[in-house]
Amino acid sequence: MNILELKNVCYTYQTQYQQTEALKGITCGFETGRLYAIVGKSGSGKTTLLSLMAGLDLPTKGEVLCEGISTSQMNLEQYRREKVAVIYQNFRLFPLLTVAENVMYPMELRGMKAKEARKKAARLVEQVDLPATALDRYPTMLSGGEQQRVAIARALGMNTRILLADEPTGNLDTANGENIFSILQGLAHTNGYCVVIVTHDPGLASRADRVLELQDGVALS
Ligand SMILES: Nc1ncnc2c1ncn2[C@@H]1O[C@H](COP(=O)(O)OP(=O)(O)O)[C@@H](O)[C@H]1O
Ligand SMILES: [Mg+2]
Repeated sequence: MNILELKNVCYTYQTQYQQTEALKGITCGFETGRLYAIVGKSGSGKTTLLSLMAGLDLPTKGEVLCEGISTSQMNLEQYRREKVAVIYQNFRLFPLLTVAENVMYPMELRGMKAKEARKKAARLVEQVDLPATALDRYPTMLSGGEQQRVAIARALGMNTRILLADEPTGNLDTANGENIFSILQGLAHTNGYCVVIVTHDPGLASRADRVLELQDGVALS
């Protein structure tokens, strides 16, 4: 069963002097328990597509469906809060919060008590293979690979079934990139998440369950 579905998704950027047709009719389904890679040259529409899946905007034409309901029929803020978690290339951790506080943040936004959130954060940090001693450190004290693992732990704390990641290994060396990919793959295969990553790395893309290749806003595969 598809948890997420794209139906003839089109997106046009409208600026004062020109229009850019970034997506020209993308149709694709995404299941839980699978890892998908979106690949394509720079400018092919990858980030735009992921943004629509993340509910940052609506397609100009066509639909993004989550659990059979079009995002155009939903409150997008609620969709972003409850249905999808996003991981970014540059981690986007809060620098003035500790690792534990970063991971606890979305839980506390949902009203979870600090003590319970801290416990859950400790479990999630362990799940992404970070030592418990990392909990009270600040992000800048960690390596890039470790920071990305914190970002994944924070995303998991949102309790969504869908994880979207735009170039999650883009700022990491090969070994750390492999490690992050393996964690995301495990979350799909072992924990049943629907994981969608944008990647430039053909080696990683070849290990995805399915590859969606974009070229000038059109899907090649
Ligand atoms: N905010 C924007 N305003 C206008 N055009 C944009 C904007 N963002 C992206 N584009 C254009 O849309 C197309 C797809 O961009 P993008 O989705 O960022 O591609 P990718 O992530 O594959 O590099 C490109 O032609 C890009 O120049
Ligand atoms: Mg991009």
